[in-house]
Amino acid sequence: MGRRERPTPPGLSLVTLALSLLVCASGMEITVPAVVYALNGSDIRLPCNFNSCYKMDTKQFSMNWTYRGCENCTEETFIQYDKKIINQRLERFQNRIEFTGNPIKNDLAVTIHDVQLTDEGEYHCYVLNPPDRHKGTGKIRLEVLTEVPPERDSTVAVLVGASVGGFLAVVILCLVILKCVRRKKMQNLNSEDQKTEEEVKTDGEGNPEGELKVCEQ
Ligand SMILES: *[C@@H]1O[C@H](CO)[C@@H](O)[C@H](O)[C@H]1NC(C)=O
Ligand SMILES: *[C@@H]1O[C@H](CO)[C@@H](O)[C@H](O)[C@H]1NC(C)=O
Ligand SMILES: *[C@@H]1O[C@H](CO)[C@@H](O)[C@H](O)[C@H]1NC(C)=O
Repeated sequence: MGRRERPTPPGLSLVTLALSLLVCASGMEITVPAVVYALNGSDIRLPCNFNSCYKMDTKQFSMNWTYRGCENCTEETFIQYDKKIINQRLERFQNRIEFTGNPIKNDLAVTIHDVQLTDEGEYHCYVLNPPDRHKGTGKIRLEVLTEVPPERDSTVAVLVGASVGGFLAVVILCLVILKCVRRKKMQNLNSEDQKTEEEVKTDGEGNPEGELKVCEQ
């Protein structure tokens, strides 16, 4: 009797436990764009969103934003979260970096003001949200442009398309004209034959009508 009253067999609850562990194991997820393009002198926001199965605890939460200017350069931490946001005010960024996210809303974005060409490089955001033991990492490559891209590619495509289209139209027109000219010649030959038969009747008036009919066909 006692055995029958058991709500779920032990196997099933083990599966449930394993599933919830799996879900939590893959809980820390970071969402960042792979590449961000910024115009020299503009302000650019580098987003970093995290997704964890644990609620954010401001006392344990940890976050670091680092900058790496080249492949072999060391990563420099410029913004940290250790109970609160700490801006390291790195010399290279002067006062141009600002934390513009909202950790409670899983948003850890930073904004670079007055972007310089020397700001190009890799930006990493590292997130730890205990008791989630997995550290999340987001990697963004910042590319600084000195002028708005002129969208040359699409312009070229349109130009090529237009000239190809125009060329085809001319070819088709030529073919049509050739056909008409040929038919006109044939008609002239025919009408010359006819002329010999009925000289006075078709003279002048018959020909233009005949040409039009042939060309319309
Ligand atoms: C980038 O912008 C700065 C001003 O913000 C300007 O002094 C500099 O000449 C610009 N660099 C280029 C390569 O356009
Ligand atoms: C980085 O360092 C390795 C050796 O440590 C070297 O082979 C490689 O060329 C370096 N890369 C750059 C971009 O400097
Ligand atoms: C951020 O950096 C501090 C100091 O280097 C380190 O103790 C902490 O674990 C780091 N946090 C993350 C999420 O990488």
